[in-house]
Amino acid sequence: MNNQAQVYYFSNLDSTSKYLKELISQGVSSNTVIWADKQSQGKGRQGREWISPPGGLYFSVLLFSSSVPVKPAFSLVAGEAVVEALKLFSNKNIQIKWPNDIMVSGRKVGGILCESLNKNLIVGVGLNIKHPAKIPKKLKGKIGYLSDLECIPREKILEKILTHLFLYWEHFQKEGFSPFRERQLQLAYLLNREIIVDDCRGRMVDYGPSGELILLTEENERKKIIQGSVKELGGN
Ligand code: BTN
Repeated sequence: MNNQAQVYYFSNLDSTSKYLKELISQGVSSNTVIWADKQSQGKGRQGREWISPPGGLYFSVLLFSSSVPVKPAFSLVAGEAVVEALKLFSNKNIQIKWPNDIMVSGRKVGGILCESLNKNLIVGVGLNIKHPAKIPKKLKGKIGYLSDLECIPREKILEKILTHLFLYWEHFQKEGFSPFRERQLQLAYLLNREIIVDDCRGRMVDYGPSGELILLTEENERKKIIQGSVKELGGN
């Protein structure tokens, strides 16, 4: 396993991020990783449930920060760490959908939830790997699985993700989002797509200096979006 990390494995937890938050008050060190085979109360963005049956990869990483991190940007950078690690094992075109989704062929195969607690950042990562026997109706057609990774031991995948994540975190703390911007654009699922983010409609044309989404509206205005929920309007 990655020698920078202290990894604690559990066969079952309510939520790896929730458990990690509880450990912070007991003084755990940076780079502590909580990994569970399944979660009974996995948490996604905007309070949504993250369904976590066995066969996926669910973990949370504690990162100490010298300043309060720019959240949207690190969510993208953490996504990049995940994608670059997954690409070592998979030939699929794995992309990042702003701000925190991991996508394959238009379906969500993973998600990242970055939460700040004082100067701690908790990076929770959930990846769908093995197709479960049953998928909840509401998710059918929306989520996908990294089935080509099924035969790879999950500790190997975790190790590669952690190596990338720690490296990118160090770099991000010193230099912010800018050095990642070009690669992020190559990995951007939304690039050139017509979308609506809350009440703003346009085509994604760029990322801003802190990982903001830049939309070109029908009036030819560039709008900077810091946060929001994305709705897709059509194909490329
Ligand atoms: C999202 O796309 O909404 C983010 C999903 C993040 C899920 C992961 S699974 C490991 C960690 N523990 C949780 O309860 N949530 C995150």
